[in-house]
Amino acid sequence: MKKILIIGANGQIGSELIAALRGKYGAGNVVGFDLREPKEEQKKAGPFEVGDASKKEVLAAALDRHSIDTVFHLVALLSATGEKDPDLCWTLNMGSLKNVLDLAREKKLQVFWPSSIAAFGPATPKVKTPQETVMAPTTMYGVTKVAGELMCQYYKLKWGVDVRSVRYPGLISWKTPPGGGTTDYAVAIFYEALQKGSYECFVGQKTILPMMYMPDAIRGIMELMEAPKEKIKVNTSYNLAAISFSAQELADVVKKKVPGFSCSFKPDARQKIADSWPQSIDDSAARADWGWKHEYGLEKMADDMLENLKKKFGKK
Ligand SMILES: NC(=O)c1ccc[n+]([C@@H]2O[C@H](COP(=O)([O-])OP(=O)(O)OC[C@H]3O[C@@H](n4cnc5c(N)ncnc54)[C@H](O)[C@@H]3O)[C@@H](O)[C@H]2O)c1
Repeated sequence: MKKILIIGANGQIGSELIAALRGKYGAGNVVGFDLREPKEEQKKAGPFEVGDASKKEVLAAALDRHSIDTVFHLVALLSATGEKDPDLCWTLNMGSLKNVLDLAREKKLQVFWPSSIAAFGPATPKVKTPQETVMAPTTMYGVTKVAGELMCQYYKLKWGVDVRSVRYPGLISWKTPPGGGTTDYAVAIFYEALQKGSYECFVGQKTILPMMYMPDAIRGIMELMEAPKEKIKVNTSYNLAAISFSAQELADVVKKKVPGFSCSFKPDARQKIADSWPQSIDDSAARADWGWKHEYGLEKMADDMLENLKKKFGKK
């Protein structure tokens, strides 16, 4: 049985991944790790360590204490927050990844680390962005994703570290709020539709970005980590895609499902970041190599989001 450490377990992805992995491998075999204290219910659900992933010795002790063989490393400063503090974005994103890769080399760990569509830039083809293409991002977050991908490839080729990765699109979920990314509007619109009946979107209505619903995102990386080693042919990160839609199309779908909802558009600094990213992604390599397949389209995702958020807010 695997013994897993999730670093960044309280975040948008980690808080859902931890439950899914515990369901599969048993609560005692999946340890959470985060800088922030977990919620009470999380503390009761299974082992959890509070610590700083920038400190290699702290990570090493947690790995030893729980005899860990598999790590999901999810710590990062995201795109919008990263532009507010580019120095911290570089130091945290690269430093913590280097710690994890060094420890993986030493202790023979399997590692998952997510890249992002932010690894692409304005010179990248925007539609059906290929697996192999121009990678020249203009945000510090994107720079750390390209550098991180190359770092993972280096550790794999030089030292045989089994590190696997995907370039996630924007992730939409209802359990834990997103952590300061450029695609956060695609989550906020659902919250505010139910809580206020209106939403002011921070990108323009024609902005199209690739997105994915969280259940697909979680299942995808669990399948990637389970795939036989010889099936993993991309040494950097796999393109991964599900749905692409404009901000207007999203607003129209929400309007159809939430009577009286209205959406206005007031682009802010995040528009420039959105404009530098692809609109859709060619993920045929992930589909061919390890069988990636998404399940949620725009309508199905919106129905599920609204149903769960209504329950969360105690609404009918
Ligand atoms: N959410 C998305 O839409 C998306 C899209 C593409 C890629 N990704 C990538 O997925 C990963 C996880 O993203 P997320 O959205 O869950 O992020 P998040 O910001 O929601 O969560 C990150 C977690 O890391 C923790 N953390 C921060 N600094 C730490 C430190 N020094 N030590 C220990 N823990 C620390 C935070 O407390 C937080 O709980 C990141 O690498 C991100 O770049 C996310």
